[in-house]
Amino acid sequence: MTELNAMPPFTAPQPGEPGRVVVSDAFDLLRSLAPESVDLVVTDPPYESLQIHRARGTTTRLTTNWFATVPNERLPELLREVYRALKPDRHFYLFCDEVTADVIKQQQNVGGPRLPNGARRCSCGFTYWKEILWAKTTLDGAKIRGGTGYHYRAASERILFFEKGKRALNDLGIPDVLMAPRAGVPGPAVKPSAILRTLIAQSTQPGELVVDPFCGSGVAGVEARKLERRFLLGDIDLAYLDPSLAKLAPNGAVVARASEVPPDPREPPDLEELVEGTAGDDELDAARACGWLDDDGAPCESLEKLLALRPKEREAAIRRALRIEAERAGEPSELRAWRAWALSGRRR
Ligand SMILES: C[S@@+](CC[C@H](N)C(=O)[O-])C[C@H]1O[C@@H](n2cnc3c(N)ncnc32)[C@H](O)[C@@H]1O
Repeated sequence: MTELNAMPPFTAPQPGEPGRVVVSDAFDLLRSLAPESVDLVVTDPPYESLQIHRARGTTTRLTTNWFATVPNERLPELLREVYRALKPDRHFYLFCDEVTADVIKQQQNVGGPRLPNGARRCSCGFTYWKEILWAKTTLDGAKIRGGTGYHYRAASERILFFEKGKRALNDLGIPDVLMAPRAGVPGPAVKPSAILRTLIAQSTQPGELVVDPFCGSGVAGVEARKLERRFLLGDIDLAYLDPSLAKLAPNGAVVARASEVPPDPREPPDLEELVEGTAGDDELDAARACGWLDDDGAPCESLEKLLALRPKEREAAIRRALRIEAERAGEPSELRAWRAWALSGRRR
């Protein structure tokens, strides 16, 4: 057992203390919290169906620091522990995909008749209201931006909205489709700060405690702090923690933010996959960032030129194109990995 694994049970930050970040299994962290002690849980577990996306796309397949997933059969335990830790009259937001949303609804028996108010009762005690959608937009927020898939491009993620007892949202005018571009921050499945800000602002008051036991980059904590809420974040691996939170984590627990370590060289996909939109989301993002695709996913002139080359000339031309492309602040880590490949001597 490592020193980090041997850490004692966790306590939530005290009033006046802004927040804490711990290395912990999410279930252990939730179990260590006193019953009815938390004001909001907002989390994004590594659900089992991510393995499907992992097999298809690069978001996960090519991420060096990919994580273990939580099996579906443990999801009821997760909901039970969250319910136990929440104070009465509080909210819970759970990010997931359509597949996991179906699994949770079946497990919680929410397929039955609706309550007179339109909500549905979960077997663990929560009221389940609805799926809020995060609609992924272009960087300027002007348009919805499709990702992968053949049965209409996937352009959204789900956020299941649960209530314990009864609590009104702070702004009743906010729609259930929240628009934001992908986070563009290193780390697997990082969620946009604007979405977290909305959820926290909607369901807490200043000084209240927000918990995310699968915190990844810790964006829930960053936004909670901006909104003057307290926070407790946990993750089994803090490698992608936002640097602004590093001081709140145990010594030695934060390995390094991915942008600060040189990326593993990665070869771009076949250019045809970029044109057809069948490449992974990260690859499509990288292709946009280096000017091969426009915001709508259509090939730009630079990509057309590469496509026009004979196959045996193509690789050298792609390497050249990536090498002369100047590095920009905040560019996708996938593009940095392609550039590292272009600069490396590896051949197909
Ligand atoms: C989908 S990511 C969360 C991303 C996060 N929402 C963000 O915006 O950066 C899931 C996280 O769960 C963590 N994780 C995996 N298994 C865990 C476990 N049993 N307990 C706690 N964290 C775990 C992974 O290390 C990963 O950071």
